[in-house]
Amino acid sequence: MSNLAGKVALVSGSGRGIGRAIALKLAHHGAKLVINDLDDAPGNAVVDEIKALGGEAVAVNGDVTKPGFADNFVGAAMDKLGGLDIIAKRDAEANREVFRKVVNISSLAGLYGSAGQISYSAAKASLIGFARTLCKEWGRYKVNVNCVAFGLINTRLTQTIETKQATIDVAGREIKVGIQPQVKSTFEKMVPLGRGGTPEEAAGAVYLFCAPESNYISGPDHSGGRRFADVRRRLAYFVGIVKPTPPCWRTMRICPRFSTSNANS
Ligand SMILES: NC(=O)c1ccc[n+]([C@@H]2O[C@H](COP(=O)([O-])OP(=O)(O)OC[C@H]3O[C@@H](n4cnc5c(N)ncnc54)[C@H](O)[C@@H]3O)[C@@H](O)[C@H]2O)c1
Repeated sequence: MSNLAGKVALVSGSGRGIGRAIALKLAHHGAKLVINDLDDAPGNAVVDEIKALGGEAVAVNGDVTKPGFADNFVGAAMDKLGGLDIIAKRDAEANREVFRKVVNISSLAGLYGSAGQISYSAAKASLIGFARTLCKEWGRYKVNVNCVAFGLINTRLTQTIETKQATIDVAGREIKVGIQPQVKSTFEKMVPLGRGGTPEEAAGAVYLFCAPESNYISGPDHSGGRRFADVRRRLAYFVGIVKPTPPCWRTMRICPRFSTSNANS
């Protein structure tokens, strides 16, 4: 299946875990990838993996938070892969709209808070505000901006720690990771599907917001956990099944693009 053929995607932190699975998923569907990771070895390994599958990818490794990095990252897409799906344009010849996609990765910690993770929760909450704002600013350019807030996904961060504390090296700093078995089991029971997800399953959720079928979904946050009913209601609103809840009405007044007069145009 290649419904992303010709698209160029940037995936940050794609040397491991969820980012890696997203990169492989998008490549599988025909996208060309700019891979990035803090660490060279896993970033380069994912490029090799995509090439071995017949895809196209380049690596721009390094810390995405460093000044100037974004220019290199975007520059690689433009110079080496021939473009980047950021600025919306209308394809006049085919007379069809072309949508660009931005998918942010947040966390339930950003939606609900998480004891002991104040910086992480604050950063992840800020991404939700970022996505809600960017979707309003870039909607006019036909850019869909969404935010997936994962619950429990099984990666090195959420590995079960039996007796010994697990640590990972992040830019020379030793960071504690892992979850005690009893705590992890409690988390799993809180997940509606009864278990943590795999990185590949997480990538599937992100892929949905990159596929053409999501061209008319922009702005709501999509959580992998408890607020599913609310998310379903919001998605239903976007396809016109249910009446929006009062907060949605407020959003519609603030954002002219979603005003009732424009909604059916
Ligand atoms: N695993 C979960 O349960 C879970 C839940 C909610 C949200 N998330 C989010 O999903 C994302 C991926 O998490 P994961 O579990 O796959 O983690 P991971 O540690 O397995 O993979 C993250 C990758 O990003 C790279 N990275 C970290 N900082 C970077 C930087 N500044 N610049 C470039 N690369 C960088 C790391 O080297 C690593 O290879 C994170 O944003 C995380 O907060 C994960």
